[in-house]
Amino acid sequence: MNLKSPEYVTGHGLIKGKSVLVTAAAGAGIGFSAATRAAEEGARAIVLSDIHEGRLSAAVEKLKAETGLAAVYGKVGNVAVEDDVRALVDFAEECMGGVDILINNAGLGTSKLLIDMEDDEWHRVIDVTLNGTMRMTRYMMRVMKARGQGGVIVNNASVLGWRAQKEQAHYAAAKAGVMALTRCAALEAAEFNVRINAVSPSIVLHPMLRKSASEELLAELESKEAYGRAAEAWEVANVMMFLASDYSGYMTGEILSVSSQGSWRLWLDAASPCQTAPGSRRRKPIFAARNGTQTVSRRPRRDRWAARMWRAWTQPAIRCDGFDKKVGGRRGRGAGRANTRGGRCIPTSALNKSLMGVLGEKV
Ligand SMILES: NC(=O)c1ccc[n+]([C@@H]2O[C@H](COP(=O)([O-])OP(=O)(O)OC[C@H]3O[C@@H](n4cnc5c(N)ncnc54)[C@H](O)[C@@H]3O)[C@@H](O)[C@H]2O)c1
Repeated sequence: MNLKSPEYVTGHGLIKGKSVLVTAAAGAGIGFSAATRAAEEGARAIVLSDIHEGRLSAAVEKLKAETGLAAVYGKVGNVAVEDDVRALVDFAEECMGGVDILINNAGLGTSKLLIDMEDDEWHRVIDVTLNGTMRMTRYMMRVMKARGQGGVIVNNASVLGWRAQKEQAHYAAAKAGVMALTRCAALEAAEFNVRINAVSPSIVLHPMLRKSASEELLAELESKEAYGRAAEAWEVANVMMFLASDYSGYMTGEILSVSSQGSWRLWLDAASPCQTAPGSRRRKPIFAARNGTQTVSRRPRRDRWAARMWRAWTQPAIRCDGFDKKVGGRRGRGAGRANTRGGRCIPTSALNKSLMGVLGEKV
């Protein structure tokens, strides 16, 4: 498989004979891809739903034409409206003889600094993204419980539920809420054989998203991914199909990152002020906490040493401005070489300084 330019994965019958309901399925992104994948993975019937009537009927026709599945139905609905949610689930139950799999894809965001945000904008994003997912999940759980044959719900969260990004307080709060909802609802639903999990994608570029975010931001986000590119919508849909299938039978309440989250974590680690530069002979604890007046290590000495060596060999050298003087990187002869060899220069920010305080590093 070419990671930079992936080839489309053919269906493997993962959800053979199942019925599927997908919300927000008439756009250019993950929703329609999930519906397409569901057909390719052997679904017997699919209901597409979306708030946009025109695009929805076009999507139904397109899905039929592209996959050859005849049992494709459309129902207009806004996930933020309880009556629409009930009507949608009831419609899907009736025309497919029960919903086996619900894909809660609907969610929306805007970009706005929190200090400029009005209540309306905050509420709109929370209402569609978090409350909409809650409404769909709640009513589907009631229906699945009453039917007594189990089922699967797959929610669509976002890595922003974990990560911070400027201008995304509302969307990030909503997606963190979707993650929490997924975990808690899953515990309750397990009692009647319903599994609930979520995918957490990083970035999927499509024409609608390109209209709502700057090219510079999208390019920066792509560049931080391990493959230097956004995911294809179908790559997220693949993971949704795994969660919808019996292959993930032991999983519930889980949030599955569809991203290179690990690489972001390394990137964040690299900005830590407490990291020892390669070549440094500093032997103070890397992570430490204050205990009364003493600074004590949280890890045994040998672990600390191993972790430091691992980082020294696998990560680029970091130099925080002021690092030598204040935190105890090598001083005097060789200090410059030890702290800058082959690495980037990261200025000591206010955040780094406060982190030093939290971690109890002696300054
Ligand atoms: N695109 C990304 O980079 C990305 C990254 C992480 C998470 N997500 C999440 O994935 C999901 C799908 O996003 P996408 O960007 O792939 O677009 P998409 O094409 O899957 O969804 C867009 C569709 O949602 C519909 N919609 C909007 N509000 C609705 C509502 N209230 N009720 C019903 N339908 C509604 C729109 O009419 C549009 O057709 C969202 O929950 C989004 O937050 C997207």
